[in-house]
Order: sequence, then C-alpha cells, then structure tokens
Amino acid sequence: MTDSKSKLLIIGVTGNLGFELANASLNASHPTLGLVRDSAFSDPNKLHKIQLLSDSGLKIVKGSLHDEESLIEALKQADVVICAVASKQVHDQKALISAMKRAGCIKRFIPSEFGSDPDRTRVSHLDHNFYSRKSEIRRLVESQGIPYTYVCCNFYTSYLLPSLVQPGLQAPPRDNVTIFGDGNVRGVFMKESDVAAFTISTVDDPRTLNKTMSLRPPGNTLSMNELVTVWESKIGKKLERNYISEEELLKRIQETPYPDNMQLVFIYSAFVKGDQTYYDIDSSNGVEGTQLYPHIKYKTDVFLPLIHTCAMSLL
Ligand SMILES: NC(=O)c1ccc[n+]([C@@H]2O[C@H](COP(=O)([O-])OP(=O)(O)OC[C@H]3O[C@@H](n4cnc5c(N)ncnc54)[C@H](OP(=O)(O)O)[C@@H]3O)[C@@H](O)[C@H]2O)c1
Repeated sequence: MTDSKSKLLIIGVTGNLGFELANASLNASHPTLGLVRDSAFSDPNKLHKIQLLSDSGLKIVKGSLHDEESLIEALKQADVVICAVASKQVHDQKALISAMKRAGCIKRFIPSEFGSDPDRTRVSHLDHNFYSRKSEIRRLVESQGIPYTYVCCNFYTSYLLPSLVQPGLQAPPRDNVTIFGDGNVRGVFMKESDVAAFTISTVDDPRTLNKTMSLRPPGNTLSMNELVTVWESKIGKKLERNYISEEELLKRIQETPYPDNMQLVFIYSAFVKGDQTYYDIDSSNGVEGTQLYPHIKYKTDVFLPLIHTCAMSLL
C-alpha cells in the first residue's frame, strides 16, 4: 500500500507547522523522514516532539540546511521535500535548492511559505522584504526546473484570531474593539493541522504539480466587522467599535519599530488592502484546496481558539 506513496522529507519537524506536517504525512501512510539539527535534542519540548513522531514512524535524519553533505544524504532517501523553516530563514532554502539539484531525485518541492501569496501581496514598501524573499525562492525553484507546489493558506487560526485581531491583547476584548479600515475587507483563517492535511494531499497529485494551492473556503473568510459580530453573538454582548483609518494605521506602522510592527503590516495587508481575497484563483496556475479535496474535514468554526482562550482566561 505504502509502496505507491512518495517518500517525504520534511524540514522543520520540531517547529510549529513542521510537526503538523509530519503528523499529517504519517497519518496518510507516507514513508516520512524528518531532518533534525543536533541542537534540537537538547531542548525538552523539541525532544518530546521528536519522540512522539518517532513513535508514530518518523525516520529521523540528523542534519541541517547549512550542512550540504547531510542534506544530500537525506535527499537521496526522498521523493518529495517539504520545508517548514521560519520566515526569517527563507533564504536558507537556497542551499536546499542547490542540494536538490545535485541529488537529482526530487519529484516535487514545497517551499516554506504557508501564508498570503507572496506574488500577490501589495505591501512591499512596508514589509521589510518579508514577501519578496519568498517570491525570490519561487523564482529560483522555477529557474532550476525543480517541480513544485506552492501552498498559500493565509492566516493560521492561532495567529491574530485568539485576540480578535487586537495587537497587544492575549484574549478577545469584551468591551471595546479596534477595527482597522472600514472593517469590510475579508481575511482567511485556517487551522494549522488542516493546512498540513491539505498540503500532504498535494504531494502525489498531478493536478497540483507546478501550481499554487490556496486555501480560501468561504466559511473561514471573514471581515473584521463579521468577526466582531460573530464574537458578540457568542458572548451575548455588543462591543464598542473604534475604527482606525488606513492613514492612522500606516502612521502606527511607521512609528512602531521593526519587527514589532510586522503584526500591523499583516493586518494592513489582509484587512485593509485585501491581499488574501482581492484576486480570483486562476485555474491555469492555481487550485483551491478545499474544492480539490472535499473529503478533508477542516475546521470552519474559526472561533474555537477564541472560545478556548476565553475559557482559560476565566479559570
Ligand atoms: N500563516 C500564518 O499565520 C503563519 C504564522 C506563522 C508562521 N507562518 C509560516 O509557517 C512557516 C513555518 O514557520 P513556523 O513558525 O512553523 O516555524 P518554527 O516553528 O520557527 O520552526 C522552524 C523549524 O525549522 C527548523 N530549522 C531552522 N533552521 C534550520 C536549519 N538550518 N536546518 C534544518 N532545520 C532548521 C527548526 O529546527 P530547530 O528545532 O533545530 O530550531 C524548526 O523545526 C513559515 O513559512 C512561516 O512564514 C505562517
């Protein structure tokens, strides 16, 4: 059964998304390898993740993106590579791309993106090259002729949503809420384990080869006004809505030092510019994952993390 399934090498299994990807890969019965740095074994949280994944069948390969020989050794055992390093390490994937070229056996690469589509965002004057770095990796993959799938999942439900998109808060507000822009522009929230399940579904699917898979189901696509209205109905109380204009938000972004201002940049991009929803998915180079894989049951109640946060704050 597993013979027909690609062998997956996942880089970053001790991280947030990488751990979910490894679990999803093992659940889908892919032979799965995880590239793990030596330093991870001395961190109790990372060691715990490594042990959980090993018990579920993950094969650990010691190595690093900065050690080409270890990379080649790992790549030779795989068909597909999924990278889930953090955004600040996106450029480290250049070494991975050159190692994939050398290994010559990789049938598909999914680079570390997992957010808004870097080729579609319109905040390059504000984002300190956050998205252009990811686009640069895309162009390198394409110029090297490495088969790929790009995954654009938009926001994780664990990001921004637990505070109802209120920078500085740990839990959703119960009296006043700040709304950025007119509050009618929609963003998208997807649970990380669902992002992982959809990502793993693409790896052997010819319909996603050399394409971008976006995740944008209508039930998970909400404006700030809609988020607040749903929250009000959950807690049975109206909040006072304070609107921050685009100009005021831009001023706050300029006045807040980098990288602390990046949360405001992401809010501006999604909820003022509409970067996650303004374009149609073009079938010549893109697919929408929830339409392509209707059997995957993903979380549509994006308020679950909010309710959890609230319950914790009442304890
Ligand atoms: N859409 C959203 O809302 C959202 C939110 C956050 C992140 N993201 C995206 O999700 C992706 C993954 O981010 P994350 O937050 O899950 O990352 P993370 O938790 O910081 O994990 C990064 C992983 O990369 C590994 N790593 C780092 N340097 C490495 C190297 N030189 N060689 C091998 N492995 C290395 C780390 O290993 P060690 O354990 O050894 O350090 C760790 O396992 C990124 O593309 C990020 O932009 C999206």
